[in-house]
Amino acid sequence: MESVVRKAVIPAAGLGTRFLPATKAVPKEMLPIVDMPAIQYVIDEAVESGIRDVLLVTSRGKSSVEDHFDIAYELEDFLSRRGKEELLEKVRGSSRQVSLASIRQKEPLGLGHAVSTARGLINDDEFFAVLLGDDIYDSPVPATRQLIDAHQKSKKSVVSLIEVPEEDTKKYGIVSGMWRDDGLFEIDRLVEKPPEGTAPTRLAIVGRYLLPGRVFGLIENTPPGHGGEIQLTDALQRLAEDEGLVGVVCKGVRHDAGDKLGWLRANIAYALKREELKEPLLEFMQEILESNP
Ligand code: UTP
Repeated sequence: MESVVRKAVIPAAGLGTRFLPATKAVPKEMLPIVDMPAIQYVIDEAVESGIRDVLLVTSRGKSSVEDHFDIAYELEDFLSRRGKEELLEKVRGSSRQVSLASIRQKEPLGLGHAVSTARGLINDDEFFAVLLGDDIYDSPVPATRQLIDAHQKSKKSVVSLIEVPEEDTKKYGIVSGMWRDDGLFEIDRLVEKPPEGTAPTRLAIVGRYLLPGRVFGLIENTPPGHGGEIQLTDALQRLAEDEGLVGVVCKGVRHDAGDKLGWLRANIAYALKREELKEPLLEFMQEILESNP
C-alpha cells in the first residue's frame, strides 16, 4: 500500500546569527529570493509534494512569518479593484492549499527540540516531513516528493543528502554507510559537525527529512549534543540503529538561504530564470566580470 504523507513540520525558530544584522528584526526565512520570501519556496514545495497540514515552528520576533501566510484582505481587495489579477495570485500564493498552524519554540534549544514541538500532533506510526525554513530546493520533482518516493521504496525513514567539499564537512551532520542497488544510501552512523579531517564521508544531511512519530520519543531521550543543543542528528542515530535510515541525493539544486553566499547564489539563480531579469542581470554580471579580471 502506498504510504501517504500529509503532515509537515517547518522549523523556523533559529536566531539566524550568520545573517546579522539583517536578522535582528527580520527573520532570515523572510529575506526575499528575488521577490518571494525564502520560506514561501519551502511551503510551495510542501504543497507540490502533497502535504496538506503544516506546522510552522517560530519564535519571538518572527510573527511576520505567520502574517505572510495569513489572508491580507485590504491588500487583496485593493489589487482586485485595480484589476491586478497576476499580483493577486502571487499574494495569495499556494499557502491557501494547506492548513497552516504555528507554534512557538520558546528557547532556541536546537533543531531536535524545534521538531519535538510537533509531538502530540503526529501518531507514532505516522510519517511526517520536516523542511527547514531556510533551505530551498530548485528541482523538477519537489525534494520532499523525492523523499516520499524514497520512503515508499525503502519503507524506512529518509534524509536528504548532498556531497560537500572535504573542508566543509565540519559545518554539517555527516553520514557513513553503504550505497544500495536502488541508488539510496543505507546510513549506519551520523556525526554532527565532525572536527576537521575526521569526517567518515563527504555526504552531508541537509534540510529535508521524512520521519515517523516515534522519533519524538528518541528526541526526548537525547541529551544536549554539539553546541549544547538538542541535535536531531543524535536522535536519527538511534532511529538508524533501531529501524534503519536511508539517504537520498535529491535531483535538483539546493540553496542554503540562511547563509550569505547561499542566499546570494539563490537570488542570482532564481533571477536568471525570470524572463524580465535574465538579460539585464547577465549584462550587469558581464560588466562586473570585465572590471574584475
Ligand atoms: P540553523 O543552524 O541553520 O539556524 O538551523 P540558525 O541557528 O538560525 O542559524 P545561525 O547559525 O544562527 O545563522 C537549521 C534550521 O533549524 C531551525 C532554524 O530556524 C533553521 O531552519 N532551528 C534551529 C530552530 O527552529 N530552532 C532551533 O533552536 C535551532
